[in-house]
Amino acid sequence: MKKKKQLTTETGCPVADNQNIETAGKRGPALMQNVWYLEKQAHFNRERIPERVVHAKGSGAYGTFTVTNDITRYTKAKIFSEVGKKTELFLRFSVVAGSLGDSDTERDVRGFSVKFYTEEGNWDLVGNNTPVFFIRDPLKFADFIHTQKRDPKTNVFTAVSKWDFWSLSPESLHQVMILMSDRGIPQNYRRMHGFGSHTFSFINSNNERFWVKFHLLTQQGIANFTTEEAAEISKYDRDHAQRDLYESIAKGDFPKWKMYVQIMPEAEAETYHINPFDLTKVWPHGDYPLIEVGMLELNRNPENYFLDVEQSAFAPSNVVPGIGFSPDRVLQGRLFAYTDAHRYRLGVNADLIPVNRPHCPYANYHRDGDMRIDNNGGDNVNYEPNSFDGPVDNPALREPPLKIKGEAYDYNHREDRDYYSQPGALFRLMSPDARQRLISNVVDNMNTVPQFIQIRAAARFYQADENCGKGIAEGLGIGLHSLLEEVERQKKEDARMEPC
Ligand code: HEM
Repeated sequence: MKKKKQLTTETGCPVADNQNIETAGKRGPALMQNVWYLEKQAHFNRERIPERVVHAKGSGAYGTFTVTNDITRYTKAKIFSEVGKKTELFLRFSVVAGSLGDSDTERDVRGFSVKFYTEEGNWDLVGNNTPVFFIRDPLKFADFIHTQKRDPKTNVFTAVSKWDFWSLSPESLHQVMILMSDRGIPQNYRRMHGFGSHTFSFINSNNERFWVKFHLLTQQGIANFTTEEAAEISKYDRDHAQRDLYESIAKGDFPKWKMYVQIMPEAEAETYHINPFDLTKVWPHGDYPLIEVGMLELNRNPENYFLDVEQSAFAPSNVVPGIGFSPDRVLQGRLFAYTDAHRYRLGVNADLIPVNRPHCPYANYHRDGDMRIDNNGGDNVNYEPNSFDGPVDNPALREPPLKIKGEAYDYNHREDRDYYSQPGALFRLMSPDARQRLISNVVDNMNTVPQFIQIRAAARFYQADENCGKGIAEGLGIGLHSLLEEVERQKKEDARMEPC
């Protein structure tokens, strides 16, 4: 018979009894010297770490990125240095609003976070399955997320706060239009696209800057659930997308996404008719066509969910030489938010957890802190400059200067009042059936919302597309007169916005 493995305490001491605790007499109380029980119970009591404040429910897998097209004229990032080059990666998908145990088939945006373990450090592309976002200013993120979470009094999800906030924040309409469309409930994580959403920058070996947007297009084809199909699935399988991803990879059916970029020369940002740093807008492909870059494949399930998926930590601030940030205000806000969240959720040494640790050598003067589990810098000195061969910076990697103009001020981001042209064009691109489903989704979603908010929201949709707004108003029993009155009110309100 095969010898069984010995059960031990955390410090390696063999456990004599894992079935009975020691008591004073047969029916007597337990003794304090039950140290195995104390360790086991204390460890269990601490199993849960704070869930992510957003994107709590997720699924992840390891994979590979392979370059298929030369883009070295735009970036010196080593990950793109030659066609055929492969880089290991970890990808986590997620649902935004729900908590850890919530359903995978909610109508919600999906997260799409990739950690590329490049030879010059980790590059994290922390994107979504949509190319735009609800807000333009990071100061509004906490307010926005509060509207997506449970009501603070009743602890119940409510459509009222969502539609109240959205209808008062016209810049959210583009994202809301996508959310209420067929794409609002992807069938699973394999059947949706991923987008970096923000504008980032590329720096090439001549130190020239380009603005760039990243697109990851699913090779499995887009597939979505209707609201009714999703509700049906949720009844018996709340982990539908997790199961689908795990099982596909386990059986060797490896999902793939093709990476493309849109490139804008640095100077064109000044004159392009759309603010290229506005996260609520896309760059039309006619102006900036998709350029193929490579293929991303997921091909290995994590051995253990908590170890790799729950403890993974992605940050838009993790870039590598050749990839940089942009003036997008929301991106700038995110450069703080994620590492701060990691320090709270996982501790100051979150980057040393195996899934987060770079695959290339790293060397700095950070020392100590909770859970320092590498060699903590060993016997190297912990200051710089030093005379003992410690690591030094490399000025050759400095980015070219970025021209900034104007005076410091809290500029009104609503100076740009074109909230409606892109969502309107998107609605008109949909098939008649898809438009009808979008209208029904909005109507069903707003069923329980007070009428004054319904009217405000319907008027926003009307400004994007008259038929869309009218369809929603009709579905909610709002008269045309009330709708048009609200449209006029909103137009006047927008016109009153002070120019900067
Ligand atoms: C997760 C903040 C906008 C995509 C998170 C987390 C925070 C956060 C604090 C939890 C991080 C963690 O505990 O590891 C913010 C702020 C935003 C913002 C302050 C705007 C000001 C966005 C945008 C996108 C996005 C625009 C996509 C384009 C994600 C994704 C995750 C996430 C995918 C999950 C990461 C993972 O899989 O671990 N966000 N976020 N967020 N956010 Fe954002």
